[in-house]
Amino acid sequence: MSDQKLTLVGAGPGDPDLITVKGVKALEQADVVLYDSLVSKELLRYAPCAEHIPVGKRAGKSSVPQQSINQLIVEKAHSKGHVVRLKGGDPFVFGRGFEEIQFAQAHGIPTEVVIGISSIMLPGLYNIPLTCRGVNQGFSILTATSADGEVSGEVSKAAKHASTALIFMGLSKLDVVVAHYLKEGRGDLPVAIISNGSLAEAQVIAGTVDSILDEASDQKPASPALLIFGEGAAFATQSNQLSIKKHKVA
Ligand SMILES: C[S@@+](CC[C@H](N)C(=O)[O-])C[C@H]1O[C@@H](n2cnc3c(N)ncnc32)[C@H](O)[C@@H]1O
Repeated sequence: MSDQKLTLVGAGPGDPDLITVKGVKALEQADVVLYDSLVSKELLRYAPCAEHIPVGKRAGKSSVPQQSINQLIVEKAHSKGHVVRLKGGDPFVFGRGFEEIQFAQAHGIPTEVVIGISSIMLPGLYNIPLTCRGVNQGFSILTATSADGEVSGEVSKAAKHASTALIFMGLSKLDVVVAHYLKEGRGDLPVAIISNGSLAEAQVIAGTVDSILDEASDQKPASPALLIFGEGAAFATQSNQLSIKKHKVA
């Protein structure tokens, strides 16, 4: 049995190739892997001898409550040694990873964090620049859904600002988000929705604040999805045009 330890690993936004080398090394040394539902199951192949435990969370619903996940981490570290907690994207971006670290530390378990590629970075896969010289000077990251499940107050603030807004957990609240932007007279602002970003079933829907509800109702994007409200969304492409395979070498 390895020494007791918790390693919190960011699995990336979906495509199993988007985990870091350091994340793979942690999996190779795991005795137990607790993984979320947005994590690619293909990553478990890096930990063939470890116990694999799904503790899936989807759209704010948890099949295993957070307190039970915390307890499980501690129990498994005590009984088996090295626990890898594999979380979608980056563990510290809307991921409750910090709570898990704090709980483990409070129980005397050493911890390490392996950062991951957050879905914040997904727009680049679909040709949407988060910043573009002369176009926008910044971007902000917010959730549409607050801890109590209501629409976050951050949405109305974002609608007033020029910077591009990346809105997490916003698909089911798209109508309310759009209403906030319309209230600010921003009907022409480009909008994109990235659904299942980085995966084979990825879908990118583009429009404006005025048109995006109709587009979404026609094309029915699936969860998980990221909303992008900002000028860069006008450059959205349907697929990963920047893929290395498609690069022409001069
Ligand atoms: C609980 S948050 C976890 C975010 C994660 N920690 C990260 O860094 O990407 C889940 C939300 O992230 C976004 N998301 C995660 N994976 C995504 C994907 N493959 N495509 C689009 N959005 C995604 C969606 O807004 C989803 O509702």
